[in-house]
Amino acid sequence: MLHVLDHPLAAHVITHLRDKTTKPATFRTLSYQISLLLAIEATRNLPTEVRTIETPLEPTPARVLAQHLVVVPILRAGLGMVQPFVDLFPDVSVGYIGLERDHATAVARSYYCKLPALPGRRVLLVDPMLATGGSAVQAIDVVLGQGATDVTLVSIVSSPEGVAEVEKHHPKIPIHTAALDRELNSRKYILPGLGDFGDRLYGT
Ligand code: PRP
Ligand code: URA
Repeated sequence: MLHVLDHPLAAHVITHLRDKTTKPATFRTLSYQISLLLAIEATRNLPTEVRTIETPLEPTPARVLAQHLVVVPILRAGLGMVQPFVDLFPDVSVGYIGLERDHATAVARSYYCKLPALPGRRVLLVDPMLATGGSAVQAIDVVLGQGATDVTLVSIVSSPEGVAEVEKHHPKIPIHTAALDRELNSRKYILPGLGDFGDRLYGT
């Protein structure tokens, strides 16, 4: 269920996100751009229904979106991916899951959760980095526990280890990513990766 974004613009944007000389203001713009491309890919199979509308010339059957969308960023870095979803889908609801990796163990600790109604809706969990997969698996467990039945994970950079972890626990959940990198280092950072996404996004 892994989908790797294949577009020259995506490759270009990822390159500049990886570059350690890219400053936070540019990093935020690039995050917006790559998330916009991912948002389009991750919603490619959204259901539509037919309505009859009137153009200035005649009535015509026309397709409109038929499923409500919920975007759920995993705080804090996931916030850098939300805006394109809100811009594209005006009726989207936004939920929040706060998870923070312990620097020594790389195990994520939950510190916040605020979610709208999830049953029947397409839930898009957004988190730029899929490293060990621990945060993603926790977040998927949370939304499934709240009644979500249609969940998609959207990340910017993924590791093979993180993809395998999500697939082990949730084999049916689609993962959309812009880059599948080589491996994790001993501190569970993605290689070649782009460093700490949250720190680079917020200049911390
Ligand atoms: C980063 C990232 C993911 C998590 C991925 O967040 O945004 O949420 O690490 O790692 P994992 O796959 O090994 O769980 P971090 O915990 O650093 O918090 P932050 O977003 O507040 O910077
Ligand atoms: N979180 C990040 O921000 N970067 C990584 O490489 C791994 C986890």
